[in-house]
Amino acid sequence: MSGWCRPAEALNLIDAVPTTRGVPVTGRWAASVGGRRAVRQNRRVPVHLITDPDDERIADYRALTDVELRTRWEPPHGLFIAEGELVLRRALRAGYPVRSYLVDAKRVDQLADLDTGDAPIYAATPDVLQQATGFHVHRGVLASFRRRPQPPAAEVLAAARRVVILEDVNNHTNLGAIFRAVAGLGVDAVLLSPTCADPLYRRSVRVSMGEVFAVPYAKLDPWPDALAEVRAAGFTVLAMTPAPDAVPIQHLDAGQRARAALLLGAEGAGLTRAAMDASDVRVVIPMRRGVDSLNVAAATAVACWELGRDDPL
Ligand SMILES: C[S@@+](CC[C@H](N)C(=O)[O-])C[C@H]1O[C@@H](n2cnc3c(N)ncnc32)[C@H](O)[C@@H]1O
Repeated sequence: MSGWCRPAEALNLIDAVPTTRGVPVTGRWAASVGGRRAVRQNRRVPVHLITDPDDERIADYRALTDVELRTRWEPPHGLFIAEGELVLRRALRAGYPVRSYLVDAKRVDQLADLDTGDAPIYAATPDVLQQATGFHVHRGVLASFRRRPQPPAAEVLAAARRVVILEDVNNHTNLGAIFRAVAGLGVDAVLLSPTCADPLYRRSVRVSMGEVFAVPYAKLDPWPDALAEVRAAGFTVLAMTPAPDAVPIQHLDAGQRARAALLLGAEGAGLTRAAMDASDVRVVIPMRRGVDSLNVAAATAVACWELGRDDPL
């Protein structure tokens, strides 16, 4: 086969291929449509059919719904899982190296234009995918990526004008929503206390729509002493609190807004006294109707928008 082919053709297995219930047992995955991608047109990547959910080749994808197990296992093993085509493409664009792909065999052609490098592509039926991962993989596409070393906080701060700092935000959904808001609303980086959740956990990645790959982040350790490092870098640390006696965010002066570090706490407990004491100003987003606080991701979005509202777009 030469020349480029349409994605559907790309999966037309080039060799005579035996199938199991309509699924190719082995195949070739050729490249895509026209333009620059045609350069890779002759690259053909084997697609390996997985029929046993316990197959060791897909060990990276085991028990994906067991949050405790996964959060203990993924970071020390230097990997994370991306789910869905859009998120996976964002991770690739951000330069994360792929370990493998695991896809619904019916959807392999969705990724036919990717330069998959040396990473193996595994395909399985929805049943096998579900048994292996523990959930119905309705997006049909998973990939396992290698983590990269996190930059030191000093490096992230040096490149930023405005940052968000999170204390003990250990809910993956909130964390993902925060990264998405930060990316969209003009904040340059996120700094995390040591007890925050992992931004590269599958749910954070998905809720962030892949923005965890675009926004630099680092750990602030020791906590809260390292907040002194943030202030030394020229930032004003704004402790976000629903307390009605704090400064309303819209009343911050130009000096306080110029190089702002928005510090937010967890659902329930909010910011610790020690973190508040290590900040410069306590700041509130005024609320109505007796509501006592906003969700931390909602508060982050409002505060980011308020601080960036005069930025040129
Ligand atoms: C659900 S709230 C925690 C509520 C906790 N009872 C408290 O008093 O902080 C989670 C975080 O969102 C931020 N937050 C929520 N509502 C806010 C508001 N109206 N103004 C400023 N920050 C707010 C704070 O940083 C808070 O620590």
